[in-house]
Amino acid sequence: MSQTMTRHDLGSAVVYQIYIKSFCDSDGDGIGDLRGIESKLDYLQRLGVDYLWITPFFPSPQRDNGYDVSDYCAIDSVYGTMDDFDRLVAKADARGMGIMLDMVLCHTSRDHAWFQRALAGDERYQRYYILRDGRGSTGAGDPGEPPTNWQCAFGGSAWEWEPRLGKWYLHLHDVSQPDLDWTNPEVREQLANVVRFWKDRGVRGFRFDVINLISKPEVFEDDTEGLGRRLFADGPHVHEYLRELVDRAGIDGMITVGEMASTDLANCVRYTRPDDHELAMAFSFHHLKVDYRNGNKWELADPDIPRLRQIFREWQEGMQAGGGWNALFWNNHDQPRAISRFGGRGGAGLPDSSWEKVGKMLGICTHFMQGTPYIYQGEELGMTNPGYASIDEYRDVESKNYYRIMLDAGKSPAEALRVVNERSRDDGRTPMQWGSAAHGGFTTGEPWIGVAPNYTRVNAEVEEGVEGSMLEFYRKLVRLRKQLLAVSDGAVRFVEVGEGAPKVIAYLRELEDAPEGQPRRLLVLCSFDDEPCRVCLSGADVSLEDAERLLGNYDDAPTVDAASGAVALRPFEALVVALA
Ligand code: GLC
Repeated sequence: MSQTMTRHDLGSAVVYQIYIKSFCDSDGDGIGDLRGIESKLDYLQRLGVDYLWITPFFPSPQRDNGYDVSDYCAIDSVYGTMDDFDRLVAKADARGMGIMLDMVLCHTSRDHAWFQRALAGDERYQRYYILRDGRGSTGAGDPGEPPTNWQCAFGGSAWEWEPRLGKWYLHLHDVSQPDLDWTNPEVREQLANVVRFWKDRGVRGFRFDVINLISKPEVFEDDTEGLGRRLFADGPHVHEYLRELVDRAGIDGMITVGEMASTDLANCVRYTRPDDHELAMAFSFHHLKVDYRNGNKWELADPDIPRLRQIFREWQEGMQAGGGWNALFWNNHDQPRAISRFGGRGGAGLPDSSWEKVGKMLGICTHFMQGTPYIYQGEELGMTNPGYASIDEYRDVESKNYYRIMLDAGKSPAEALRVVNERSRDDGRTPMQWGSAAHGGFTTGEPWIGVAPNYTRVNAEVEEGVEGSMLEFYRKLVRLRKQLLAVSDGAVRFVEVGEGAPKVIAYLRELEDAPEGQPRRLLVLCSFDDEPCRVCLSGADVSLEDAERLLGNYDDAPTVDAASGAVALRPFEALVVALA
């Protein structure tokens, strides 16, 4: 049974992302599993979240930690059994939480039976993948050059020569992840059946991996301006394929979210407008590139906060104007921890007072926006990047590839490690810090990846029930979204804060017909500045006179200058006020 989510439902829901490999290990093999998740359902219920998005646990050779799927309708024994899964769905349901699954439909693993049959010469399955002759090939057996200059996401060509096929196959991610050919109707039907299979097992929603990359251009040609991305993101048939998938799998109106790589606003409006019957919401990533130097993830730069403000404004107001819906997030399993990124500290670092201020400020910043917030495991505890001392401690294929690419380009090992420290996807994949026991209580064995060194101070055990802890603060964020209709249902409008506050993001949430006793207008102020600053709201038809402070990350309210109305914000201060 699927229920249709209204915008109010989406606006009052909070999703929690579980990276299963690092969440909780129930059997001591060092890898998280389904029973581990089951053992933490009470914790998740107390946090108040409504949906649990679990990253892939399907059979996989784990070249890309499960995003290389070799069987879509089964469970890898490392993670548990189908019985474990069914029980988890039922137990989560009994606590009012729905399970969302991660569907990786753009590519399979090379180990998938479809690719294996293709390799064995079965032409039917060869038509499932994107196979091409090499450029300049003189005929059978001569690879020639890759068909185009496109680069894969993890570094290097997006094409791999396969001698058994006598062709190159396209892989937009790791070489072990051949892209599926969505122009083949049989492929689309198979994939819709996969989604339906899980829906029929009681799954309440889906996250679709890099789903805007499924429709490749009609003509395969070199990208003369870049690495190919702009040619295959939001491709020619993507909307049509999505509508068809949603219709066939019977998931229209469910909670669904697409991961949209290198996308734009206009397409995201279309992906998420209810009348288009595609998805409920979209993840876009422009706000998480403001610390890339010239768009290059592997070159460090300080976060550009004016740019961040501009991006949030464009996506908040633009999606609202177009009738789209945003997924709100700072963290996931592909991102370094935002608290390390925006806290001006980089790398690891033990918690200090600015750490706590930064974590709470970031929480306020996204949790009061229009859309559906996502909490990534450990964010609610203030988990940071681990700052590993050696490249050998990293596991991620992308990090290892780029470490090598940086060395080849002339960086010293120390310089390359420093970049990996700040940019690795493993920064967000360290074991969940449950307590002060060895490995943060994540496992009784040896974890597949090391815990961050601050686990004895940043963990669920020490934060539980402690007034002012990050965990209690996140519980409050979740509660307020459910209580305040201006947050779940209100309009959003960004406001100018004057030249004295270049690193402050400020917006209003307004609900003119809010019921009696509920605020009609909320003002949210978030300073990304590690210095004090002065916010001037005179241009914004907003006055803090008679305003009521609902939430903040300092114990008391900031000072307001009576004459000018300017607000003096302290380093990384954030607050939410109900305007009179
Ligand atoms: C998405 C996933 C990422 C994975 C990639 C390829 O970006 O979030 O972890 O490596 O797709 O499937």
